[in-house]
Amino acid sequence: MTFRTLDDADLAGKRALVRVDFNVPMHEGQVSDDTRLRAAVPTIEKLRAGGATVILLAHFDRPKGKRVPEMTLAPIAAALATVLGSPVAFAEDCVGPVAAAAVGALKPGDVLLLENVRFHAGEEKNDPDFAKALAANGDLYVNDAFSAAHRAHASTEGLAHLLPAYAGEQMRLELTALDKALGNPERPVMGIVGGSKVSTKLDLLRNLVTKLDKLAIGGGMANTFLYAQGHDVGSSYCEKDLAETAREIIRLAGQNNCKLFLPIDIVVAEKMAPGAAARVRGLGSVDEDERILDAGPESVERLCRAMANSKTLIWNGPLGVFEIPPFDKGTMTAAHCAAELAKEGKLVAVAGGGDTVAALNAAGCADDFTFVSTAGGAFLEWMEGKELPGVAALAS
Ligand code: 3PG
Repeated sequence: MTFRTLDDADLAGKRALVRVDFNVPMHEGQVSDDTRLRAAVPTIEKLRAGGATVILLAHFDRPKGKRVPEMTLAPIAAALATVLGSPVAFAEDCVGPVAAAAVGALKPGDVLLLENVRFHAGEEKNDPDFAKALAANGDLYVNDAFSAAHRAHASTEGLAHLLPAYAGEQMRLELTALDKALGNPERPVMGIVGGSKVSTKLDLLRNLVTKLDKLAIGGGMANTFLYAQGHDVGSSYCEKDLAETAREIIRLAGQNNCKLFLPIDIVVAEKMAPGAAARVRGLGSVDEDERILDAGPESVERLCRAMANSKTLIWNGPLGVFEIPPFDKGTMTAAHCAAELAKEGKLVAVAGGGDTVAALNAAGCADDFTFVSTAGGAFLEWMEGKELPGVAALAS
């Protein structure tokens, strides 16, 4: 797919309406992780350098079309000013006279953040009148919010049809990296999919087994696969009603020559608590009161060998309960393996999804990955092979 980027735009004196994703973690009214703010900087700086005024559109949380004071973007404007090292103006509405006055006061190079677009019901409905009201404040539209591109909302999709539309720098980075990982990867290409629930990742698994050469399944969802193969899982989290679906995915993998890697050994404990007594067990030797909480050392070693024999890795979801040591070991070891290979230039390693990024950050190796997506839900939908409306609307 081709799309226009800021290299194709005439920016001088233009009002650039930029959709960013500032749906960031907050703690006691303060931004607690500014990754998404930092991700927006290259686009903002490129627009400023080109002589445009920068008008940022963003959502926070899910206010459902109403003004919810706790979901204001005001604290985010202050945090962005810190990240940029220059002032960021804030307007208490994203449309109407308040927004128009704030936009009218801007000079080239200025940055303005408009209030939460989801305070208006027209945003999530992709209402054409609301999109027009947003468009009134811009000469061109830049979508830099890959992580919100799975939503067909007025500011993520509708606007692209009303103004000359461009992909921002973060959008471009995400699309290029993801294409390299799954669209046109260097083979062999391997996937790691973890997390607790098979039920939320069925479409993803079905798509991946048709595209990848190898797929490792870890985390709680691996229990469902082990159970489906007749192994006892004790008191582990397991979606027993999905056993037949798991067997169908195993068959589909076989038909598509995708080698599946399920755990060959496991780490169990009676309690999921920090420092709980953990034991390594072979498959099928789990006691009734034990729970599988991590992949075992042989499984992880096998994954590391498989990574070393691959050219590309795409990773979503932890291998165990990585938030609670000692059950973080499998995820941490595999993360370090991938990071090391990527650092040596032997593997294109791409990861995404909230938990995965948190796990890589905890392992201290996110920076060594080839690319870490800022997206959660959008990354999953993209891995499922779905068209993202916000991306499709940028097609030129
Ligand atoms: C995200 O944080 O993944 C995006 O901003 C999308 O948010 P949403 O799930 O509330 O649409």
